[in-house]
Amino acid sequence: MLKFVHQAIRDIRTTGSVFPSSPRLARAMTNSLREHRGEKKILEVGPGTGAFTEAILSSLRGHDTFDVVEVNPVFCAHIEGRLLTPFRAHHSSMSIRLLCAPIEEAALEGGYDFVICGLPFNNFPLALTESIFARMLQLMRDGGELTYFEYPGMRTLKRPFVGPQGRDHIAKFKAFAKKTASSHLVTRTLVVANIPPAHAVRLTKRHGVLEPCSASMKTS
Ligand SMILES: C[S@@+](CC[C@H](N)C(=O)[O-])C[C@H]1O[C@@H](n2cnc3c(N)ncnc32)[C@H](O)[C@@H]1O
Repeated sequence: MLKFVHQAIRDIRTTGSVFPSSPRLARAMTNSLREHRGEKKILEVGPGTGAFTEAILSSLRGHDTFDVVEVNPVFCAHIEGRLLTPFRAHHSSMSIRLLCAPIEEAALEGGYDFVICGLPFNNFPLALTESIFARMLQLMRDGGELTYFEYPGMRTLKRPFVGPQGRDHIAKFKAFAKKTASSHLVTRTLVVANIPPAHAVRLTKRHGVLEPCSASMKTS
């Protein structure tokens, strides 16, 4: 927790929030992994101190493959030492890799069944958000799932304080979300036991389409 807060103070733009996600949000973000039958190939983007990584590791079976991409070297060293190295020592049949790089540049082969994304899109310029979404979708197989989280109402709350340029950014982001919302099957789960409350957004990739959507809502 302290490591996360320290990194958030150093670099709020890439860290994106002051507190790591809660175990309840981690569970909602990783539900599909536990329901899946058969081998799976998983990518996690932006693990931070590993709130979702622990839940992903506990879902791994047999010859599953798990790749983790994190841009911050302090977080990389932390999750490698605390989670990945100890896990590998007891699960030699699995391929578990950490790439300390931005997702925009990480050398990945693709074909993922699941992408679990912890990136702070609220803090990113729209062009970066668009290119990261396109990259993650491109790395997934058709029918694969991308799960990311959003803080509901955060943009509306910020609106009066951000000036004309900020409001323009919010409007463009909403348009992007709406556009992508027409292309894929998406479900949202509201997790109130998180600071702040968050939606886990689960997007199923449709054949030949490279953008995200919104279809059903539930509360966890
Ligand atoms: C909001 S924190 C989330 C951490 C963790 N998943 C959680 O929910 O507690 C965002 C994480 O994404 C990482 N990050 C930001 N930009 C990134 C990028 N372009 N590629 C990979 N990781 C990135 C940050 O360093 C940080 O660890």
